[in-house]
Amino acid sequence: MYRLGAAETETLKTSDRILDFDLSAELDHGIVVSNLAYEVALEMGLEESVCYELAIAGMLHDIGKLRLTEYINGREKDPLLIEELKYVRMHSTLGYEELKGQGYSEFVLESILYHHENYDGTGYPENLAGEEIPIGGRILRVCDVFAALSSDRPYRTAFDVATVVELMIDEIKNFDMEVFLAFQRVIHKK
Ligand SMILES: [Fe+2]
Repeated sequence: MYRLGAAETETLKTSDRILDFDLSAELDHGIVVSNLAYEVALEMGLEESVCYELAIAGMLHDIGKLRLTEYINGREKDPLLIEELKYVRMHSTLGYEELKGQGYSEFVLESILYHHENYDGTGYPENLAGEEIPIGGRILRVCDVFAALSSDRPYRTAFDVATVVELMIDEIKNFDMEVFLAFQRVIHKK
């Protein structure tokens, strides 16, 4: 059975390292998350209009990373991971602030703001737990991790679907079980 190295474990806990930022890869990631979030929401029986809103949120969920580049300019040589993580953790709030007032629904905005909250309360930005986390955030959390692990990264190749699911089960505390089960049904239909 495949075991995670420290760097890979980190991808489950946080987003990818900001120094790996690559706009084309981010767009590809947004498309995968968008499509999957739509299907998972549909599988959960959410209204179709809500599923479309989630598709929008899935496309835009990491848009705050664009703002992050302003914060890391000139810091590229700073190797301190802790600093890096501090800035990475700002991206969900920065994305929310960027899109607020631009006509997006509160559902889309909250889904983006809370897409790194963990079901057990260990996520960010607000350490929300369980159903305190808006459903859109809980769905994006699962889809985001799946999309990240099942695509190539500069420091590793993509994991196969069975391995990704195994890795996610190891971190099941992060996910809403109802969402996770719907997600599993969706990927096994493919
Ligand atoms: Fe993110």
